[in-house]
Amino acid sequence: MVNVPAYFDLKLLAPRRILTGAGCRQALPSLLAEDGRSRPLLVVDPRLGTSPALEDLTLRLESALGPVPVTLEVPGEPDVECSEAIARVLKAGAHDCVIAVGGGSVIDAAKGAAVAATNPGQLVAYEGFDRFPVDPLPLYALPTTAGTGSEVTRVTVLGVHHPPRKISIKGARLVPTAALVDPDFLVTVPPRVGAAAATDALTHALEAYLRPASTPVSRALGLRAATMILRVMRDGADYATPANWSELATASMLAGLAFGNSDVGPVHCLAESIGAVYKAPHGAANAVFLGPVLGYYGNLVAEPLAEVARTVWPDELAGLDAAAATRRLVAAVDAYVAANAVGTLRSLCGGELDVDVIAALAETNNSNASGPIPMTVTDYRAIMVSML
Ligand SMILES: [Fe+2]
Repeated sequence: MVNVPAYFDLKLLAPRRILTGAGCRQALPSLLAEDGRSRPLLVVDPRLGTSPALEDLTLRLESALGPVPVTLEVPGEPDVECSEAIARVLKAGAHDCVIAVGGGSVIDAAKGAAVAATNPGQLVAYEGFDRFPVDPLPLYALPTTAGTGSEVTRVTVLGVHHPPRKISIKGARLVPTAALVDPDFLVTVPPRVGAAAATDALTHALEAYLRPASTPVSRALGLRAATMILRVMRDGADYATPANWSELATASMLAGLAFGNSDVGPVHCLAESIGAVYKAPHGAANAVFLGPVLGYYGNLVAEPLAEVARTVWPDELAGLDAAAATRRLVAAVDAYVAANAVGTLRSLCGGELDVDVIAALAETNNSNASGPIPMTVTDYRAIMVSML
């Protein structure tokens, strides 16, 4: 049985300010001034390359505050060492806030750094919910991929190496002070990476929407975000259009609010497990598992998924039942993942997949109980075997 609460507390965790739309990065200097922050450290995604939006942002910050130090040391899958290294830079420079410009890995690394900069000891000690005693430094998050939603969530997921696993540090105080969701940053994202990120965002939306214990607010946000993302997917595999960037950036943020006030579910349990063991990128890992897991749920989620699908394909699905509508949605996700060469389960695991290890890890994931049906090692194993 899946637990469903008797009533909901609709308190919504969100950044104090959320700006969304092309050019909203321009408001960052005035937000910093409002908050009395004058010594930011800029943590920039090293994969961003030459970005006109980043150049513009840097010029605006420097004209308001003078030279702003930049750090670029963030690996693709962030770990505690990386966050602690950035924290040392924050402390040495007496910085009073962090600006993160990057994908989810950079924002997560910056969240960890913001905690490590004000709290004693090592970050692993703060694994879990609200374990750190001192407020982190304020974080201003500017996502450059439309995927993780980390700019609005209360969690950072960081790797540790002995043994290899991911830890989650959570707490209301980890929600960034402000999120500036500017689609101009998406211009430099390679289509394959952007497509994987979009499917990650869709997974957040659908897992929050399908979770029985989600509040009505999370379900509404998830439903809206899912329809926005699926419309982009429906209209072709062409990721690289400004209209798509704008839709995906806003939808990803809404999806972040949806799961950030609820939870993810079994798709993420599998994705995080192959991320920990095989270093599979988070977005791509969710992308390959989303369709098969939704298919595995079958008719148990047909009605809610059909509500999404009928919004996206109203004419095509007229007169068809919920199961057919759900199959249409799953087929669209799988087609989008394939068209953008996001990868396959085997390719993401370097050709070596130990289904027993991954199934066991997935079952012990904190989000395992947040799916629409209870999932066991046997279920996870069956899903992966069906994909090989
Ligand atoms: Fe995710």
